[in-house]
Amino acid sequence: MNRPVYIALEGAEGCGKSTQAALLAERLGAVLTRETGGTPVGARLRQILHDNDVDDLAPRAEALIAAADRAQHIHQVVKPALDAGRSVVSDRSVYSSLAYQGYGRQLDVDEVRKLNRWATGEVWPDVVILLEADDDIVAERMSARDLDRFEAAGDEFHQRVIDGFRALAADEPERWITVAATGTIADVAAAIDDALRERESR
Ligand code: TMP
Repeated sequence: MNRPVYIALEGAEGCGKSTQAALLAERLGAVLTRETGGTPVGARLRQILHDNDVDDLAPRAEALIAAADRAQHIHQVVKPALDAGRSVVSDRSVYSSLAYQGYGRQLDVDEVRKLNRWATGEVWPDVVILLEADDDIVAERMSARDLDRFEAAGDEFHQRVIDGFRALAADEPERWITVAATGTIADVAAAIDDALRERESR
Protein backbone atom coordinates (compact mmCIF):
# COMPACT_ATOMS: atom_id res chain seq x y z
CA MET A 1 0.00 0.00 0.00
CA ASN A 2 1.48 3.36 -1.03
CA ARG A 3 -0.38 5.95 0.98
CA PRO A 4 -1.22 5.44 4.66
CA VAL A 5 -4.49 3.60 5.15
CA TYR A 6 -6.88 3.70 8.09
CA ILE A 7 -8.28 0.19 8.53
CA ALA A 8 -10.88 -0.75 11.16
CA LEU A 9 -11.89 -4.20 12.33
CA GLU A 10 -15.51 -4.57 13.36
CA GLY A 11 -17.79 -7.33 14.55
CA ALA A 12 -19.65 -8.69 17.51
CA GLU A 13 -17.95 -9.49 20.81
CA GLY A 14 -16.05 -12.75 20.80
CA CYS A 15 -15.35 -12.84 17.04
CA GLY A 16 -11.55 -12.68 17.42
CA LYS A 17 -11.30 -9.09 16.20
CA SER A 18 -8.64 -7.94 18.68
CA THR A 19 -6.32 -10.85 17.84
CA GLN A 20 -6.71 -10.22 14.11
CA ALA A 21 -6.22 -6.45 14.50
CA ALA A 22 -2.90 -7.05 16.28
CA LEU A 23 -1.73 -9.54 13.64
CA LEU A 24 -2.77 -7.32 10.73
CA ALA A 25 -1.02 -4.27 12.22
CA GLU A 26 2.14 -6.33 12.57
CA ARG A 27 1.97 -7.57 8.96
CA LEU A 28 1.43 -4.05 7.62
CA GLY A 29 3.84 -2.30 9.99
CA ALA A 30 0.87 -0.15 10.98
CA VAL A 31 0.02 1.59 14.24
CA LEU A 32 -2.26 -0.70 16.29
CA THR A 33 -4.95 1.03 18.26
CA ARG A 34 -8.49 0.61 19.56
CA GLU A 35 -11.81 2.22 20.35
CA THR A 36 -12.88 2.60 23.05
CA GLY A 37 -9.90 3.12 25.34
CA GLY A 38 -7.12 3.87 22.82
CA THR A 39 -5.92 6.90 24.83
CA PRO A 40 -5.54 7.61 28.57
CA VAL A 41 -8.69 9.76 28.52
CA GLY A 42 -10.45 7.08 26.50
CA ALA A 43 -9.49 4.43 29.06
CA ARG A 44 -11.36 6.44 31.70
CA LEU A 45 -14.40 6.86 29.46
CA ARG A 46 -14.33 3.13 28.67
CA GLN A 47 -14.59 2.32 32.37
CA ILE A 48 -17.95 4.13 32.50
CA LEU A 49 -19.23 2.44 29.35
CA HIS A 50 -18.37 -1.05 30.55
CA ASP A 51 -19.25 -0.75 34.23
CA ASN A 52 -22.14 -3.05 35.20
CA ASP A 53 -22.93 -0.71 38.11
CA VAL A 54 -23.82 1.97 35.54
CA ASP A 55 -27.33 0.68 34.93
CA ASP A 56 -29.12 3.92 34.00
CA LEU A 57 -26.96 5.39 31.23
CA ALA A 58 -29.21 7.08 28.65
CA PRO A 59 -28.57 5.92 25.06
CA ARG A 60 -27.73 9.50 23.98
CA ALA A 61 -25.25 9.82 26.86
CA GLU A 62 -23.72 6.49 25.82
CA ALA A 63 -23.39 7.76 22.22
CA LEU A 64 -21.76 10.99 23.43
CA ILE A 65 -19.26 9.16 25.66
CA ALA A 66 -18.28 6.86 22.77
CA ALA A 67 -17.99 9.93 20.51
CA ALA A 68 -15.82 11.72 23.11
CA ASP A 69 -13.53 8.67 23.28
CA ARG A 70 -13.32 8.77 19.49
CA ALA A 71 -12.67 12.52 19.27
CA GLN A 72 -9.70 12.11 21.61
CA HIS A 73 -8.50 8.98 19.80
CA ILE A 74 -8.57 10.58 16.36
CA HIS A 75 -6.90 13.75 17.68
CA GLN A 76 -4.20 11.98 19.69
CA VAL A 77 -3.50 8.74 17.78
CA VAL A 78 -5.11 8.27 14.36
CA LYS A 79 -4.61 11.64 12.68
CA PRO A 80 -1.01 12.11 13.88
CA ALA A 81 -0.13 8.61 12.61
CA LEU A 82 -1.74 9.19 9.19
CA ASP A 83 -0.13 12.64 8.93
CA ALA A 84 3.24 11.01 9.63
CA GLY A 85 2.66 8.55 6.78
CA ARG A 86 1.85 5.54 8.98
CA SER A 87 -1.11 3.27 8.36
CA VAL A 88 -3.45 2.60 11.26
CA VAL A 89 -5.25 -0.60 12.25
CA SER A 90 -7.99 0.02 14.80
CA ASP A 91 -9.90 -2.54 16.84
CA ARG A 92 -13.35 -0.92 16.36
CA SER A 93 -14.20 2.52 14.99
CA VAL A 94 -17.07 4.91 14.35
CA TYR A 95 -18.99 2.01 12.83
CA SER A 96 -19.30 0.42 16.28
CA SER A 97 -21.24 3.52 17.32
CA LEU A 98 -23.53 3.21 14.31
CA ALA A 99 -24.11 -0.49 15.07
CA TYR A 100 -24.32 -0.41 18.89
CA GLN A 101 -25.78 3.02 19.64
CA GLY A 102 -27.68 3.32 16.36
CA TYR A 103 -29.04 -0.14 15.56
CA GLY A 104 -28.52 -1.67 19.03
CA ARG A 105 -29.87 1.14 21.25
CA GLN A 106 -32.20 2.25 18.46
CA LEU A 107 -30.99 5.83 18.15
CA ASP A 108 -31.39 7.42 14.73
CA VAL A 109 -28.41 6.06 12.76
CA ASP A 110 -28.01 9.22 10.67
CA GLU A 111 -27.94 11.37 13.80
CA VAL A 112 -25.26 9.14 15.34
CA ARG A 113 -23.32 9.44 12.07
CA LYS A 114 -23.64 13.25 12.11
CA LEU A 115 -22.49 13.45 15.73
CA ASN A 116 -19.46 11.36 14.85
CA ARG A 117 -18.61 13.36 11.73
CA TRP A 118 -18.21 16.34 14.03
CA ALA A 119 -16.35 14.33 16.69
CA THR A 120 -13.82 12.97 14.21
CA GLY A 121 -13.45 16.04 11.99
CA GLU A 122 -14.42 13.61 9.21
CA VAL A 123 -11.42 11.32 9.72
CA TRP A 124 -13.12 8.08 8.75
CA PRO A 125 -11.83 4.53 8.15
CA ASP A 126 -10.81 3.88 4.52
CA VAL A 127 -11.42 0.14 4.87
CA VAL A 128 -13.60 -1.75 7.35
CA ILE A 129 -13.18 -5.48 7.87
CA LEU A 130 -16.29 -7.13 9.28
CA LEU A 131 -15.45 -10.39 11.01
CA GLU A 132 -18.39 -12.76 11.02
CA ALA A 133 -18.06 -15.56 13.58
CA ASP A 134 -20.33 -18.56 13.96
CA ASP A 135 -22.98 -17.98 16.62
CA ASP A 136 -21.90 -21.05 18.60
CA ILE A 137 -18.25 -19.92 18.71
CA VAL A 138 -19.31 -16.50 20.00
CA ALA A 139 -21.61 -18.11 22.60
CA GLU A 140 -18.78 -20.36 23.77
CA ARG A 141 -16.32 -17.44 24.14
CA MET A 142 -18.95 -15.38 25.97
CA SER A 143 -19.77 -18.12 28.45
CA ALA A 144 -16.07 -18.30 29.36
CA ARG A 145 -15.87 -14.75 30.73
CA ASP A 146 -17.52 -12.26 33.06
CA LEU A 147 -19.91 -10.23 30.97
CA ASP A 148 -19.63 -6.43 30.92
CA ARG A 149 -22.50 -3.94 30.41
CA PHE A 150 -22.66 -4.48 26.61
CA GLU A 151 -22.07 -8.21 26.66
CA ALA A 152 -24.88 -8.60 29.19
CA ALA A 153 -27.33 -6.49 27.13
CA GLY A 154 -29.30 -9.48 25.81
CA ASP A 155 -29.76 -11.49 22.64
CA GLU A 156 -32.16 -9.11 20.90
CA PHE A 157 -29.76 -6.20 21.37
CA HIS A 158 -26.89 -8.26 19.96
CA GLN A 159 -28.95 -9.46 17.01
CA ARG A 160 -29.80 -5.83 16.15
CA VAL A 161 -26.08 -4.97 16.35
CA ILE A 162 -25.09 -7.83 14.03
CA ASP A 163 -27.90 -6.98 11.59
CA GLY A 164 -26.72 -3.36 11.81
CA PHE A 165 -23.16 -4.26 10.85
CA ARG A 166 -24.46 -6.28 7.91
CA ALA A 167 -26.65 -3.39 6.74
CA LEU A 168 -23.74 -0.93 7.03
CA ALA A 169 -21.49 -3.28 5.04
CA ALA A 170 -24.16 -3.70 2.36
CA ASP A 171 -24.63 0.10 2.12
CA GLU A 172 -20.97 0.77 1.35
CA PRO A 173 -19.48 -2.26 -0.43
CA GLU A 174 -16.50 -0.20 -1.63
CA ARG A 175 -15.45 0.48 1.98
CA TRP A 176 -16.33 -2.84 3.66
CA ILE A 177 -15.04 -6.35 3.31
CA THR A 178 -16.67 -9.23 5.15
CA VAL A 179 -14.51 -12.14 6.28
CA ALA A 180 -15.72 -15.39 7.85
CA ALA A 181 -13.98 -15.75 11.22
CA THR A 182 -13.87 -19.53 11.01
CA GLY A 183 -10.94 -21.91 11.28
CA THR A 184 -7.66 -21.21 13.02
CA ILE A 185 -6.25 -17.77 13.81
CA ALA A 186 -3.86 -18.26 10.87
CA ASP A 187 -6.77 -19.20 8.55
CA VAL A 188 -8.64 -16.01 9.42
CA ALA A 189 -5.47 -13.91 9.02
CA ALA A 190 -4.93 -15.42 5.55
CA ALA A 191 -8.57 -14.77 4.61
CA ILE A 192 -8.14 -11.12 5.65
CA ASP A 193 -5.01 -10.78 3.50
CA ASP A 194 -6.78 -12.35 0.51
CA ALA A 195 -9.77 -10.04 0.91
CA LEU A 196 -7.53 -6.94 1.18
CA ARG A 197 -5.57 -7.98 -1.92
CA GLU A 198 -8.77 -8.63 -3.83
CA ARG A 199 -10.09 -5.19 -2.81
CA GLU A 200 -6.89 -3.44 -3.93
CA SER A 201 -7.04 -5.10 -7.33
CA ARG A 202 -10.60 -3.88 -8.00
P1 TMP B 1 -14.37 -4.52 23.03
O1 TMP B 1 -13.40 -3.40 23.18
O2 TMP B 1 -14.14 -5.63 23.97
O3 TMP B 1 -14.60 -4.90 21.63
O4 TMP B 1 -15.74 -3.97 23.60
C1 TMP B 1 -16.16 -2.76 23.30
C2 TMP B 1 -17.62 -2.69 23.63
O5 TMP B 1 -18.03 -1.34 23.51
C3 TMP B 1 -18.44 -3.51 22.69
O6 TMP B 1 -19.47 -4.13 23.41
C4 TMP B 1 -18.98 -2.48 21.76
C5 TMP B 1 -19.05 -1.24 22.58
N1 TMP B 1 -18.89 -0.03 21.79
C6 TMP B 1 -19.97 0.77 21.59
O7 TMP B 1 -21.06 0.47 22.07
N2 TMP B 1 -19.84 1.90 20.85
C7 TMP B 1 -18.65 2.27 20.30
O8 TMP B 1 -18.57 3.31 19.64
C8 TMP B 1 -17.51 1.41 20.52
C9 TMP B 1 -16.19 1.78 19.91
C10 TMP B 1 -17.67 0.28 21.27
